Amino acid sequence: MDTRPIGVFDSGLGGLTAVRELARIMPEEDLVYFGDTGRVPYGGRSKDILVRYARQDVAFLRTFNPKAVVIACGTVSSTALDALREENGVPIFGVVEPAARAAAQLTRNGRVGLIGTKATIRSGAYERALARLKPGVEVTARACPLLVSLVENGRFSPGDIVAETIVSEYLAPVKAAGADTLILGCTHYPLMRAVISACMGPGVSLVDVGEQCARWVKQQLDWDGLRNGRPGAGRRRYYVSDSAGDFSELASVFLGENVAGEVEQIDITAY
Ligand code: DGL
Repeated sequence: MDTRPIGVFDSGLGGLTAVRELARIMPEEDLVYFGDTGRVPYGGRSKDILVRYARQDVAFLRTFNPKAVVIACGTVSSTALDALREENGVPIFGVVEPAARAAAQLTRNGRVGLIGTKATIRSGAYERALARLKPGVEVTARACPLLVSLVENGRFSPGDIVAETIVSEYLAPVKAAGADTLILGCTHYPLMRAVISACMGPGVSLVDVGEQCARWVKQQLDWDGLRNGRPGAGRRRYYVSDSAGDFSELASVFLGENVAGEVEQIDITAY
């Protein structure tokens, strides 16, 4: 039994897709979330900058003495996972491996679509993982740089004509390639799942990378005997690097509970 919290981070709201699943499958665990809202989006940045930001994000979360750190960000998982693992003596989980496993299992026709940020697509990390897990799988990848801004601005609901138009343009080549499985390779994208799913049609399975990662973390903690055996609901705290207000509002809608009292702004550059 280990009552230490699980640390989770992302550039902004996207990592809440992992938090929601972690809280659902391990309600007794304490979670500490950091959203780097002062520096979002991460997806268009160079590897050097991303590694620097990610080091600070992990250093902040480590002040809570976490038993594990979840990189609930496709961009950081695909560019900085190895560096973070080498430097930190705490288990660090990324989203690429569990998502690639899920896609490899789900696809029937061997054609997998992948959408993510520019940095994620440039890294080729999902393609490498899929080639190892299911040789011969065909991946059609598309960077979707505008989607994170739409999500951070709350523009992700069906009927939002701007969101629908942009999604349909981005997904056109993936649809044309006949993909039967689509990896939502950025943790922000499941917030616009309804729009993406309507565009792809009913026969296509969507892989939520945050959700897959959360399930993998649970499995690992179970295996390693690191679960919190304490009864009752765990505490969830949220930290952001820009003002807490906008984050609280959208996070409360997405998580289905009012988190306003648990959100605090910090200076991430101090870590
Ligand atoms: N949610 C993140 C990801 O999964 C980062 C998006 C961004 O900040 O550009 O890639």
